[in-house]
Amino acid sequence: MKATTAGFVACFAVLGATVAGATWADDSAEQAIAAARVRWQDSPHGPMLARILPPTFEAAQLPERHTRGAQLVVEYCVQCHNLPNPAMHDAAKWPGIVERMVVRMQGKGNLGTLMKEMMAGVKAPTDEERAQLLTYLQRYAQRPLDPRKYSDIESDAAKSFRLACQQCHVLPDPRRYTAAEWPAVVARMEKNMLWMNRVVGSKPNPDEPQLRIDEIIGYLQKHAR
Ligand code: HEC
Ligand code: HEC
Repeated sequence: MKATTAGFVACFAVLGATVAGATWADDSAEQAIAAARVRWQDSPHGPMLARILPPTFEAAQLPERHTRGAQLVVEYCVQCHNLPNPAMHDAAKWPGIVERMVVRMQGKGNLGTLMKEMMAGVKAPTDEERAQLLTYLQRYAQRPLDPRKYSDIESDAAKSFRLACQQCHVLPDPRRYTAAEWPAVVARMEKNMLWMNRVVGSKPNPDEPQLRIDEIIGYLQKHAR
């Protein structure tokens, strides 16, 4: 029964690409992701793997999602954790990360023996696919804040922003969004922080830096697009 369903889905994916485009192709991406998620979440390391990346980013949000690069991200990068957003990291950071991930997919990474059972079903990209993956991730990467253009970045007003927003990636360029758009992005990042269990302002701890969300948003809005 399962095999029949899979065949049916694959059939639709082909039709989707040639006949109707968007919707069917998107459905098949969602199905591929759901199938991968079942596999890694069922492993004894599921809870740890689930926290690596938050579930805030969906295949439909991938830029140019019908290009080969986007399809490769869906094919390879959801095998162990939630879908990575190319805009999470700047272009300089992606080569090292892709390198680390490919070594793992080849079964040679750290945690390799630990995750042996789970790793059995994991496939690795060819050299050519790997190059396309990297090109795609870099094309839609985060634009880092250039400290030479923001003379107040070392000021006290920027402190919360500096501390909070470079824990997981480079400091983002405030000009990425308008003043009206930033609060929603910061709210999503608060969710990301909760998900990934990092410092959050809502639970003040005297030994940890206090994160002031109003200060963070204030700094971003001051320099917004
Ligand atoms: C074989 C399992 C596996 C696959 C497949 C995989 N990853 Fe990962 N990934 C991990 C593990 C384990 C971690 C946590 C440890 C670490 O950061 O190296 C991780 C962490 C990450 C992180 C968060 C860490 C950081 O530096 O921000 C990103 C981003 C990421 N992976 C991107 C990708 C991309 C892009 C792909 C596809 C090219 C991919 N992953 C494929 C296992 C995998
Ligand atoms: C706990 C880790 C973490 C922290 C801390 C964090 N981010 Fe992120 N950030 C992510 C992840 C994961 C993504 C990719 C998924 C997403 O977009 O939600 C991302 C992506 C982004 C992006 C690119 C995506 C887009 O929609 O443009 C921006 C901009 C960003 N973060 C800004 C910030 C700001 C501002 C802060 C400080 C308030 C911050 N981040 C703190 C994890 C984090």
